[in-house]
Order: sequence, then C-alpha cells, then structure tokens
Amino acid sequence: MPSMLDIPADLSPLQDHLAGSLSLVERRVADALRSDLPAVHSLCRHVARYHGKMIRPALTILSALAAGQAAQPHASVATDPHTPTPDPILVVATVCEMVHLATLVHDDVLDTADTRRGQGTINALHGNEAAVILGDYLFSAAFHLCSSLGDKDTSQSIASVGMTLCAGELLQNAHRHDLSLDEATYFGIVERKTASLIAAACRLGAKHAGAPANLVAALERFGLRLGVAFQIQDDLLDLTGDQRVVGKSLLKDLEKGKLTLPMIHHLTTADAVQRGRTLLLLEDAADRASDTAEALRRALESTRSIAHARTVAETLVREAREALGQCPPSPARRMMELMADAVVTRAF
Ligand code: IPE
Ligand code: MG
Ligand code: MG
Repeated sequence: MPSMLDIPADLSPLQDHLAGSLSLVERRVADALRSDLPAVHSLCRHVARYHGKMIRPALTILSALAAGQAAQPHASVATDPHTPTPDPILVVATVCEMVHLATLVHDDVLDTADTRRGQGTINALHGNEAAVILGDYLFSAAFHLCSSLGDKDTSQSIASVGMTLCAGELLQNAHRHDLSLDEATYFGIVERKTASLIAAACRLGAKHAGAPANLVAALERFGLRLGVAFQIQDDLLDLTGDQRVVGKSLLKDLEKGKLTLPMIHHLTTADAVQRGRTLLLLEDAADRASDTAEALRRALESTRSIAHARTVAETLVREAREALGQCPPSPARRMMELMADAVVTRAF
C-alpha cells in the first residue's frame, strides 16, 4: 500500500497493526470476488490491483480504535500491535473498499479514462460493456458480504451510501458543460459521490467498536469533512498533478466538462474579458484538454483560484480535526490527524 504519511516512531506499532489489518482486507476482497469462471475471475484479479492508499478501510479500523477506546478505556489494541482487528470491523472495512472499487470501475467508464493506478482501466482493456457489468458485480459482492454481518443498520447504511454515491455521479453528469455551476451544487455533488462513503467508513468503524452515539456522530462528521477535502485535492490533482505520480488519467474533468472548485471560483471572480476568454478555452478543452490546460492553469492563477480551493480544503481538514477532538487522545486519533493533513498535501 503506498503511504501518504511520514509516521513518527512512536506510532510505528500502530502502523504495523494497520498494515497487517489492511493486508487482511486485501485478502478478503480477493476472497469475496473469487469466481470459478475464468472470464469473471481474470477481471476481478485486475480490479484487485486498483487498491491504492486504502483510505476508507484504514479509517474504519482507526475510527474503531479512536472511538472504541472511550467504550473500553482499558482496550490494548491501539498500543499492542498483536491484538487483531475484530472480525466485524474487518468486514466493514472490506465492504467499504469493495464499494469504492465498484465506483472506480464505473467512474472510468463515465470519464473514458484509460489509466488507473498506473495500469489500463477495465473499460480501456475490455470495453465499456464489461466494465459496467463488472462494476455491478462488485457492488453486489459488497452488499453480499455486508449482509453476512446480519446487522440491519450496517446493511441499510451501505445500501443507502450506494444510492447516495450514484446520485452524486448522476448529479455531476447532469451538470456536465454547465458553465454556471455554483459552489453549493459542487459541494452537493462531492459530498455525495466521495464524502458519503468516507463518512460511512468512519461511522461504522466507531459503531462496531461499541462507541457511544456522540462519538459515532463525531467520527461521521470527521469523515464527511475529510471526504470533501479529499475530493477537492483530487480535483486539484486533475488540473495540476503529475500523471506519473498520480497514476491515473488527468485533465479528465476539463475534457468531460466537469467544473470543479478552482474553475467555479475563477468564473465567478474573473472580470468580463477574462471570463469570456476562459469560456472559449473551456469549449476547446472538450476536444483537446491537454492543449488548452496550460492556458487554463494561467487563467486560474490570475484569480488565485487554485489557492482558493486549497484554502477551502485546509479549512475542511481543520473542521475534521475539530470533530476528532471529541475522541480521547490516543495513537489512533493522532494517526487520523496525520492522515487528515496528508489528504490535502498528497501528490497522488
Ligand atoms: C469520482 O471522482 C470519484 C468517485 C467517488 C468514484 P473523480 O472522477 O474525480 O475520480 P477520479 O479522479 O477518476 O479517481
Ligand atoms: Mg473520474
Ligand atoms: Mg478526479
């Protein structure tokens, strides 16, 4: 798992614990997707290579530790790397990762993206038809695994997150090429398509650790703020990132007519002449995003719109950390604070 974090020495037992639990999550994803049919199995094996930073399962496991300690103040799991992550928490972590993988497979169809995690996407390698059905297969496998917990609240949460994610993508799709998209609608899209799953990963981790209701809610708030900050950074990387480092097709938002926070800010703050110039460039970007990207980046710079988006993301991270402040101090809480900071400074 590539790490975004520089871990201080005193957190390394927790980091080892987390790395061990995340390899179990990877194995459980592979188990849940195993098929006797070679045509299915080989596609699932390819998707298993899409594991990236594994932020969602990491947050489930860490939320369980950070909030669960309040329920069991003498629990040793955060300090003893040999205490295994309880099974229901591993299952929730696995389910969140599988739902995420499903959204990526479908999202690459919507974006006609050909690279993800440095490799070919399913749609590029096998066509849109295979990618659509494989995404459905992954969603169904995630719901199947989730139902094995026999917990109605968790099943309903994951199913409603699935609906929310799709609603976010549908809303975004409905606003493609909408040059008057406003910030409120952008945040509505991002909260749904990205932050809802991150918030559920945190909430369900805390819940399955037996945390009190106020901490479960605080962890959910943390995930929601962090999730929006995460997507703002993702959108910034689409505009300014280095494709070899990010590992996926970039400039897709421009090419697909998706306005993100820097561009929304630019179009609302630029003077009439600059705005007119940018609108022409945006029309061009649908055909030749890479040719017009440099001119668009200069335009964004002229209204300090990249800096504006960074500031918004940093404010959200501060709010996320405030929500986390409701948990008692612990190594898990500190690791989550470091993750929150890294979400907006990451280069991939
Ligand atoms: C969609 O956002 C992310 C999902 C939640 C599926 P993007 O379209 O920006 O995602 P990337 O950049 O392709 O990963
Ligand atoms: Mg995409
Ligand atoms: Mg993106």
